[in-house]
Amino acid sequence: MTREAELTSSREGLLKHGAATLSRDSLDDYGSGSDLDLDELEAQDGQASPRPRGGWSPLKRKRKSKGKENADQIRPKAKRKGGWFRSKTCLLVSMILLGGLLALVGGSYQFFFKKIRPVDGQSPPWYPSPKGGTVSQWQMSYLSAATIVSKMSLIEKVNVTTGTGWASDLCVGNTAGAFDAGFPPLCLQDGPLGIRFSDHATAWPAGITTGATWNRDLMYKRGRGLGLEHRLKGVNVMLGPAMGPLGRMPGGGRVWEGFGSDPVLQGVAAAQTIRGIQDEGVMATAKHFVGNEQEHFRQSWEWGLPNAISSNIDDRTLHELYLWPFADSVRAGVASVMCSYNMVNNSYACGNSKLLNGILKDELGFQGFVQSDWLAQRSGVASALAGLDMTMPGDGLRWTDGDSLWGARLTEAVLNGSVPTERLSDMAIRVVAAWYQLGQDNQTLFPVPLEGDPRPNFSSWTNDEMGHLHESTDDTTLVKVNNFTDVQGQGESFHGRLAQEIAAEGTVLVKNEGNILPLSPQGGAKQREGRRDAKYNIGIFGEDAAPNPKGPNACPDRDCNEYTLASGWGSGAVEFPFLTPPIEALESTFDLDAVELTKVMTNDLPVDWPAVHGAQDLCIVFITSDAGEGFTSWNHLTDRIDLHPQKGGDKLVENVQNNCQHTIVVIHAVGPVILERWIDFPNIKAVVMANLPGEESGNALADVLFGRVDASGRLPYTVGKSLADYGPGAQIMTKPNGLIPQQDFSEGLFIDYRHFDKNSVTPRYEFGFGLSYTTFTFSDLVLKTLKAKAPLPSPRPTATVFPPTFSTAIPEADTALFPDGFRKLSQYIYPYIENTTIHSDPYPYPKGYNTPQSPSQAGGAEGGNPSLYDEHLSVSVKVTNTGPRTGKQVVQVYVSFPENVVDVSTGKKIEFPVRVLRGFDKVEIGTGKAKTVEIKLTRKDLSYWSVGRQNWVMPDTGQFTIAVGASSRDLPLHATW
Ligand code: BGC
Repeated sequence: MTREAELTSSREGLLKHGAATLSRDSLDDYGSGSDLDLDELEAQDGQASPRPRGGWSPLKRKRKSKGKENADQIRPKAKRKGGWFRSKTCLLVSMILLGGLLALVGGSYQFFFKKIRPVDGQSPPWYPSPKGGTVSQWQMSYLSAATIVSKMSLIEKVNVTTGTGWASDLCVGNTAGAFDAGFPPLCLQDGPLGIRFSDHATAWPAGITTGATWNRDLMYKRGRGLGLEHRLKGVNVMLGPAMGPLGRMPGGGRVWEGFGSDPVLQGVAAAQTIRGIQDEGVMATAKHFVGNEQEHFRQSWEWGLPNAISSNIDDRTLHELYLWPFADSVRAGVASVMCSYNMVNNSYACGNSKLLNGILKDELGFQGFVQSDWLAQRSGVASALAGLDMTMPGDGLRWTDGDSLWGARLTEAVLNGSVPTERLSDMAIRVVAAWYQLGQDNQTLFPVPLEGDPRPNFSSWTNDEMGHLHESTDDTTLVKVNNFTDVQGQGESFHGRLAQEIAAEGTVLVKNEGNILPLSPQGGAKQREGRRDAKYNIGIFGEDAAPNPKGPNACPDRDCNEYTLASGWGSGAVEFPFLTPPIEALESTFDLDAVELTKVMTNDLPVDWPAVHGAQDLCIVFITSDAGEGFTSWNHLTDRIDLHPQKGGDKLVENVQNNCQHTIVVIHAVGPVILERWIDFPNIKAVVMANLPGEESGNALADVLFGRVDASGRLPYTVGKSLADYGPGAQIMTKPNGLIPQQDFSEGLFIDYRHFDKNSVTPRYEFGFGLSYTTFTFSDLVLKTLKAKAPLPSPRPTATVFPPTFSTAIPEADTALFPDGFRKLSQYIYPYIENTTIHSDPYPYPKGYNTPQSPSQAGGAEGGNPSLYDEHLSVSVKVTNTGPRTGKQVVQVYVSFPENVVDVSTGKKIEFPVRVLRGFDKVEIGTGKAKTVEIKLTRKDLSYWSVGRQNWVMPDTGQFTIAVGASSRDLPLHATW
């Protein structure tokens, strides 16, 4: 998608939902290629409601044992938003609506909308949607799926592609299945760090903590644990891992769900997680595709505006940054991809044919199915043509009104020929093939439940054993919906152990003066000097050390920062089965015969606190910074507008250290935190960034503080000295700059450390940094050419595997009627139509719809052209542990591209980041021992995306510099290639 192409292309954002349903004016009446789309108008007409809070509150209020059941859950939107800006937004929207009304009354409706119309769509068309079944790894699954799909009726195919509606069945997303053809309903459940709205399941460390481990093996094992637990609860499709947001903005509300602000770290972690999940037979979902970097304005109406924000991303940046982890995920065989709420280049991500058809399905060779984020589908026919395969949760433009953009409308759109039958068959077979690919036809993995038992074996909508199967409907029959199946593992295989190991390895020690850490349970020999007869006084300060008296699940979806912080909030949060607070682990580890512990579990510490609480020899002070998903908020926050510690954290640290010569700061946070107000104070001896540790928080922290494990976490983001230091692109847009807020990703490739390096900004702690309790040296860097440089990958391989074919005949309309005597539930989404009168206005296909695109040369297999993954360069290095104990080091390999690279297609010089991470590995080494680590770089690692050539290009003149070391700025070894 070149800038030029973007500007001249047609506006996909105009694509309409359901010609079958259009009794309205045709597209041309609104001016082709311009102004608001019908969905927007419809949404304005209908005043689409924002997402009900707390995962749909009226239902969630029935959940009882997991924390407070409070009125907060039904807090009205206006109250939630509040504040100056929000009232401005309200004002703006009210003015627009009032203006709209006046204009309507005056008969100048169209004139009015043309005056405020958003910019033209900039994403080029890419049609037709590539069919699945084109790679050998999925061939058998497609063959089996073809047998089922060929038996499916029209309504069964629609059933497989359309959710049944929010809360219409037991999971957060459900399809209804195709019983006659032999395909079951599917349960789709969040999420990235555990099973949301469930019980007896592990609350794993968050993605950001997992990224901070830099440990491929742990990433895989965590994925395995997630997969196993989801399977045992009866979940078919896990809604994770998250790899977008990538972390363009360190304050982005959901950055913590993913693994860190670098495409390679994010890609490795995502792929390892997916392999783990899918090795357990559960379909993983790579989300959110793509550009959902901030929560403000992410979704229509949620922020008071009729449209979502448009993330305007240029072609090269898309490929080299935001798409990268998705490519790794597709290469790992991911079964599903979730398209995001936002627009990309002014076309909704879930209706953007360039993204879904062109990039995901053609170039990356994605074989599974694309599902929409919840209500991210904003058009009917258009999104089907653009490559969406499943709409979730099935509701249309609004929550739980029973009016889907697909369901019966899709049935009708096939019957009147607007959506080709081939497209519908491809949508269905992608879902069924993914099910086979994961072995879900195997009843040992997914057993048929015993009579009377639910499947899945839990309900998202109640904690009681008995509940409704179709909660949002008028079906009030009570049946067993919760089996309370414990999926956390037992004894040695109790998943908490693994969760603890990951949380400990994801804890980053950034300052450790005089080796104050690790602590001794007796308080530490050094600190005890001269005081052998007295107890050693240790003060623990801050609310974050303490458990929430109302329980760890006191706030719905964890949408508050109260007491110890172990997770962000939103759909990526889970119900904690338990949460070990730091204070508990500290108390049980310190030898209380030698140590006097003073616990001050509040952030409101009096300035003269030693007078109140007694002088301390050592102080451990806990602070936090929280954020979360945009459908809910805490303290008016979703995205973090600044990166300072919250709840008076800075003041608390300053106050503690004023009176305590040995102060250790522990930070639980969703991402980077600005430490500048106190980091250089001499009394601040150690700082530990523990990220979001999950249920085993305290135990994992104690493992590190007491040195039961080495401190081996490394920063998955840069800790800057101020938010401004991250650059203009890193600032959250909090005020809309148009009816469709336009966010230009004009910093391009230069996010996080790449921005700091390019602009010579010194961070406080750089990306990749972290201290160990031992020391390491790097030596003997050897580069070995495995394959010679050559600019282009091999030509796209000729296809040898072909998609199954199905009858393209349009079925008779009466085959799609509601069956006689059918009992309809209110608000439930059905595929059936009411009568055989089918609208047949010609569908206004988008520009470019009839011009088939040539397959991308960058494609040809899952993840792209297989030759992109050929290994070209071996980098090996010797790492020696020169310190006092066994420890773990992360070997990081950064690539600097040759200077003066000129792209042959454009004649323009290509600008590269100073260096980019391209490989890493973590090794454990005993004291005095050494290990040689080899990291292989692929063609893709050594290429840039050429916009002119529409391919990855490896510069074959000039020299690459390969730098190896312990962080993005501690790179003692260099060699050229
Ligand atoms: C989130 C998704 C999530 C879905 C279902 C959406 O609000 O963006 O990540 O999977 O809800 O809960």
